[in-house]
Amino acid sequence: MMLSMALTKGRLEKNTVAMLDECGYGTEALKNKGRALVFKDTKKDLEYFLVKANDCITYVEHGVADVGVVGKDTLLEGGKDYYELLDLEIGKCRFIVASLPQNDLFNKTGQIKIGTKYPKVARDYFLQRGMDVEIIKIDGSVELSPLLGLCDGIVDIMETGTTLRENGLVVLDTVCPISARLIVNKASFRLKRQEVLDLIADLESVVMKNAETDQ
Ligand code: PRP
Repeated sequence: MMLSMALTKGRLEKNTVAMLDECGYGTEALKNKGRALVFKDTKKDLEYFLVKANDCITYVEHGVADVGVVGKDTLLEGGKDYYELLDLEIGKCRFIVASLPQNDLFNKTGQIKIGTKYPKVARDYFLQRGMDVEIIKIDGSVELSPLLGLCDGIVDIMETGTTLRENGLVVLDTVCPISARLIVNKASFRLKRQEVLDLIADLESVVMKNAETDQ
């Protein structure tokens, strides 16, 4: 039976397609895509959709996509009605707490303000520490918010650290590491079990190969 796969477009896209290539799949259409959004694999009984990260979860939860590739950041913030079956170990970065150096969040008294694109992740983090925070939802360029005095600090994704450095912010703590995961629709895992297991086995062998070349 054919498997449909929701891929997160943008930052993760290139690495995901490279992994599918390594599996020996026919990803030509994904590499010369123009403005198309649905792509047929030329070697396997697979169909790909390119979607935004949050939508990847939505399509998988509704079973429109049998499987999806999406960052752990989005999974931590969003839905939960799926199986997360494989860490693809690409798109590696981490959630951090950062602020201006003089703004020592952890030693402040009273409520602090945190700017973030990830309110749930931020709330959970400070709740665990018993800290009183007001979360301010920001949609992008989160690093700007403490510079302009909108908040005392941020919870955001750091990959190379360049954005923080160039804006004079320092890392105060790591919340957790992030990488891309394979998620699977619950019904698809019953009805297309063998296809899903074959896909996982293919991807897993690439994960292992990549880990060896990284050493
Ligand atoms: C992400 C993140 C940081 C930046 C981190 O933003 O929110 O701003 O990347 O990367 P770095 O540590 O390598 O500098 P993104 O570029 O996805 O866009 P956004 O600011 O619009 O969210």
